[in-house]
Amino acid sequence: MKAIVVTDQAAGTAGMTLVGRPEPQAALNDVVVQVHASGFVPTEMEWPSTWTDRLDRDRTPSIPGHELAGVVTALGYGTTGLSVGQRVFGLTDWTRDGTLAEYAAVEARNLAPLPGDVDFTVGASLPISGLTAWQGLFEHGRLQAGQSVLVHGAVGAVGSMVTQLAREAGAYVIGTGRAADRQTVLDFGGREFVDLENDALEDVGDVDLVFDVIGGDIGKRSAGLIRAGGTLVSIVGPPEARPTDGLVVDFVVEFDRAQLSEIVQRVRDGRLRTNIGNVSTLDDAVAALNPTERRKGKTIIRVRP
Ligand SMILES: NC(=O)c1ccc[n+]([C@@H]2O[C@H](COP(=O)([O-])OP(=O)(O)OC[C@H]3O[C@@H](n4cnc5c(N)ncnc54)[C@H](OP(=O)(O)O)[C@@H]3O)[C@@H](O)[C@H]2O)c1
Repeated sequence: MKAIVVTDQAAGTAGMTLVGRPEPQAALNDVVVQVHASGFVPTEMEWPSTWTDRLDRDRTPSIPGHELAGVVTALGYGTTGLSVGQRVFGLTDWTRDGTLAEYAAVEARNLAPLPGDVDFTVGASLPISGLTAWQGLFEHGRLQAGQSVLVHGAVGAVGSMVTQLAREAGAYVIGTGRAADRQTVLDFGGREFVDLENDALEDVGDVDLVFDVIGGDIGKRSAGLIRAGGTLVSIVGPPEARPTDGLVVDFVVEFDRAQLSEIVQRVRDGRLRTNIGNVSTLDDAVAALNPTERRKGKTIIRVRP
């Protein structure tokens, strides 16, 4: 099969190559999926799991990409709940070969049925971005209607989902980003916009929840904006500062079939849209994943046209 592999951590996405690889076999409880579309998170090259397995053994050349939408072609021993020919979408294990390939082996528990009216490209854009937003807002952030949420990087893959889900849940959303992002953030449901390069973040005042996808100095300064009893949710590692009277939660997304079904239902209803930018073929994936200009939305690799 065709696959994108990485071998050199220092080279990052620039070191990606398109190669021929054997098709994966279905291990116990696995499903082999013929990948129709694959999602990629731009910072994957910084994750240790891209380079080593759970025992810290080198696993290069590894296939990146962890979001997929496709069709089941084989079931491993003991696999239940899914069938050959079924449309599915989900999240592959961080420490196994991923989805920038024509086939991927995934544990069945990390897949959900993809409704027939949802395109594979849309399906592949949802698992990481949608579940991260959902879990950060509702599980870790315990968001309630009427609360205020500061969403950093609000036009990004995760941030655009956070903005829309928080608004739908009845929160007052303040989105941040770069100057050019203002209208997009307001279109996604933000009530206010903060240009992080030109506006004073501190002018936002107190909020109940900060959803941080940027970290560093932005995360540090955001801790001071949390109202008593509020929460700073980070998806970019432990924050450098804590709110004086509030919680800090730093988490990594986990697959959840029921939550992903809630998310895809909102997409079908038109209540939620994914911010998809460039859609490219597997043959052109290396160039698409190494853009020379700022990305406008999430890049999806359409593995099967
Ligand atoms: N913990 C988890 O489970 C989890 C899950 C998903 C993602 N993540 C992490 O979360 C981060 C965001 O992921 P994503 O897929 O949403 O990425 P993304 O689509 O690139 O979104 C990030 C957004 O933040 C903006 N941004 C970054 N730094 C900024 C700054 N200093 N000022 C203004 N805007 C800034 C980016 O703009 P530019 O493109 O112009 O920089 C982009 O619009 C990544 O680090 C990823 O690894 C973690």
